[in-house]
Amino acid sequence: MHLSGSLSSWTAYLGLLSALSATFAPAVAVKEHDFKKCHQSGFCARNRAFADHALAASSWESPYNILADAGSFKDGQYQGVVLKTINDAGETVRLPITISFLESGTARVTVDEEKRQKGEIELRHNSKARKERYNEAENWVIVGGLALDKAAKVEQEDKTQLTVKYGPSSKFEAVIKFSPFSIDFKRDGQSHIKFNEQGLLNVEHWRPKVDKPAEPEKEDDAADSGNEDENNEGKEDKETKEEPKKEDESTWWEESFGGNTDTKPRGPESVALDISFIGYEHVFGIPSHAGPLSLKQTRGGDGNYQEPYRMYNADVFEYILDSPMTLYGSIPFMQAHRKDSSVGVFWLNAAETWVDITKGKDAKNPMALGVKSKTSTHTHWMSESGLLDVFVFLGPTPKDLTAKFTELTGTTAMPQEFAIGYHQCRWNYISEDDVKEVDRKMDKFKMPYDVIWLDIEYSDDKKYFAWDKHSFPNPLDMHKQLDSRGRKIVTINDPHIKNVDNYPVVQELKSKGFGVLNKDGNIFEGWCWPGSSHWLDAFNPAAREWWASLFNYDKFKGTMENTFIWNDMNEPSVFNGPETTMPKDNLHHGNWEHRDVHNLNGMTFHNATYHALLSRKPGELRRPFVLTRSFFAGSQRAAAMWTGDNQADWGHLAASIPMVLSQGISGFPFSGADVGGFFGNPDKDLLTRWYQVGAFNPFFRAHAHIDARRREPYLHGEPYTTIISAALRLRYSLLPSWYTAFRHAHLDGSPIIKPMFYTHPSEEAGFALDDQFFVGTTGLLAKPVVEKDKTSVDIWIPDGEAYYDYFTYDVIPTAKGKTVTLDAPLEKIPLLMRGGHIFARRDIPRRSSALMKWDDYTLVVAASKDAKTPAEGDLYVDDGDSFDFQQGQYIHRRFVFDAAAKTLSSVDYEGRDSEAVKEGEWMKKMRSVGVDKVIIVGAPASWAGKKTVTVESEGKTWEAKMEFTPAEKGRAAFAVVRKLGVRIGADWKVVF
Ligand code: NOJ
Repeated sequence: MHLSGSLSSWTAYLGLLSALSATFAPAVAVKEHDFKKCHQSGFCARNRAFADHALAASSWESPYNILADAGSFKDGQYQGVVLKTINDAGETVRLPITISFLESGTARVTVDEEKRQKGEIELRHNSKARKERYNEAENWVIVGGLALDKAAKVEQEDKTQLTVKYGPSSKFEAVIKFSPFSIDFKRDGQSHIKFNEQGLLNVEHWRPKVDKPAEPEKEDDAADSGNEDENNEGKEDKETKEEPKKEDESTWWEESFGGNTDTKPRGPESVALDISFIGYEHVFGIPSHAGPLSLKQTRGGDGNYQEPYRMYNADVFEYILDSPMTLYGSIPFMQAHRKDSSVGVFWLNAAETWVDITKGKDAKNPMALGVKSKTSTHTHWMSESGLLDVFVFLGPTPKDLTAKFTELTGTTAMPQEFAIGYHQCRWNYISEDDVKEVDRKMDKFKMPYDVIWLDIEYSDDKKYFAWDKHSFPNPLDMHKQLDSRGRKIVTINDPHIKNVDNYPVVQELKSKGFGVLNKDGNIFEGWCWPGSSHWLDAFNPAAREWWASLFNYDKFKGTMENTFIWNDMNEPSVFNGPETTMPKDNLHHGNWEHRDVHNLNGMTFHNATYHALLSRKPGELRRPFVLTRSFFAGSQRAAAMWTGDNQADWGHLAASIPMVLSQGISGFPFSGADVGGFFGNPDKDLLTRWYQVGAFNPFFRAHAHIDARRREPYLHGEPYTTIISAALRLRYSLLPSWYTAFRHAHLDGSPIIKPMFYTHPSEEAGFALDDQFFVGTTGLLAKPVVEKDKTSVDIWIPDGEAYYDYFTYDVIPTAKGKTVTLDAPLEKIPLLMRGGHIFARRDIPRRSSALMKWDDYTLVVAASKDAKTPAEGDLYVDDGDSFDFQQGQYIHRRFVFDAAAKTLSSVDYEGRDSEAVKEGEWMKKMRSVGVDKVIIVGAPASWAGKKTVTVESEGKTWEAKMEFTPAEKGRAAFAVVRKLGVRIGADWKVVF
């Protein structure tokens, strides 16, 4: 949100704001204290206090035990009951537990609460909310991989524990201890992940509110009260930990923050668990946070955070860096990594969630680690409500982790090809003339771009689906002009619907009952860009269907086939709501409280828009493009994301790289940061460097705040214009390789840009590196400059392969594990080619990706250091638009350069028989597309003097010309073969 830093938007909203109650005092800059710290979030404070008590006590025993006789194991699943002892009298609460062992080798532990399953609880305040713990998250998130592993078997069972062998070749083992309850997940006999090892399992069971006479406040009680009382911050709990701890009830029944009161009709209901990664020093994931890729400890100490990582999707405008604060979206998936091993967990819970992280040797029993005195990472997960539902992945590689996680949550949708080109956005292009002018200028300066974006001002007074008639009188003409060069328009359509009389959309929303309700069951009203607004309840299937209908071309007039959609503010952002979002006691479809589903909210909305784009016109079946700000695990199936409202400063530029890397290893790689920085005015150097970084973001979009000065890439004069053009062109020439990387992400969930720990899981020195990365499987290693006035970078070389400078073909003098300094004056992006790879480009500069569709390819071979090791690579291409690729309408080639055999060959990547696929229109047209050029960097010296090569394809043999340039002054020898004359879709071989 932009209530900050924006005077003109301020004035526009002054009227709006003055109507708000005095308790809502909007901020003028990011205020960390507009968002809760753990001690201000009742359940977080309670669970941290619980942890403090348990960890400090000399003889803490978790009060959770499995009822030995109540459990049974069948077909890969254990079902039983955990008893929670709730008082000294030994009274217990029954918590049904299911432990599922899945065919994929993933295990799942789900804990519910019997009384709530049966609806045997009473809600306060006559609330209509559901009584069960929220059990529908999996309906939104999980799309596969739940088949039970019938081969999983109980290896050992007695009154105290149960051991189950499961997974590939029964390599995995779960030792379920009954009393106190814990699970030890082992691989090859060694412990990797332990549940409740520290005894922090906590399921706050339902209880009736008992009104007690007010007690005089004791000093100690205030210390961990979890109230918003700022004085509490930093106070130590001075209680003697061995004493039974009196529970802090002050936040059980009601909580207030920033003038909003949460009525909590079900009282306290959090779920929490400690999960230890045994012998693992690094943990990654749980995006989105503006901090390092390797997550920090959160319980204080030098360089550590004081606060747990928070996941509570929020409109955190002007967010701060190096912080565990929540941002706009969350994916509660964490992977732990150590040399040669990755394991992980997925905490499937959509309520507000905090994660504490500490690292250290196991103080209680160092020998229990089983891995010589290595550091372990202890995590403490806390969610406000819902089920305790955790998936466990035992790896062993980072790739296994992303593959298994996306088997459950789905992989990245194959994007529209234009969507991986360059996007030109600002808040706002103010008129059709403005749009056309930018379009003309991009052409004039020969800067390729694919999409121009329209932010909220295109609409008629923030009534989405209606154009501002003065500034956009003929939107169709504008669309058509862009379409003539294959370009697209993205319009923003937010989930808040303006609450005014003359707006059919809001009238229908109200009359059909498709809005989110407040705690009393009336339509919820709050404030956002349009002023008073209602919110679409995308949890409601009928509401989604209605939403979809609004995008039909005859409804959303002025749009056509090249219009795509941006979903913003879908956390949801509510300017006058608690923490700028919805009250937690609001009600969604099915009477689920907003509290239960908050982190899913953004995903339900962008899913609805995705489906809307699928049904705009009968018979038109094209891949949608939707950009979302808020997201959850599973969002990758339908949308791209960006990192929200960053700032035009160098720190934000640097932070964007670990943020995008983190998205990639968490299953949602189609991500990028606003190029240039949203707030503020980047100087020319910063903007230029940002384009060089942006060209390596899977999602590449420039964007700027309404108050920022115009900064289209052609405005900056020389040398900037030329340098920025070069970054754009580099992106466009490499589009075939980016698209191929998306194909891999789509097939197996792999990241599109990859951190060092992911590509080199054995090299410990690379585990914490998050400022350099590989692109897909191209072997391209980038380390963009992200510091002011820097003209060199130090790049870490992860292995002993040859590395060549991308632009000069210089051989980088280096060795495995060494750091090399690369020159990087402003015009240079430090970019290396790793030996042993082949990647594809399209080298003819054009104005948009659509105009490159039928261009021939260039293949670049980076020869391996050792001639005996072949160089390999692949190229995936389809029509970039329809779903025909699902019917085999695609080309996927595998290239192998064998220096010893002196051949370069192209075969079908999957070994498909080319005759077996009936060629559709696009495939037929692709018959005219070939390989124009092959460049072999690191070509053998013995090729000197050679002028031709032999080409064999489709039963014919011919010669093509080759130019060989010998090695010189640190530059590798290279050879260029021109006019190969082969089809990209055919098998072929070049003999050198
Ligand atoms: C907030 C978004 O983060 C920003 O990108 C957009 O420009 C504004 N909303 C206005 O729609």
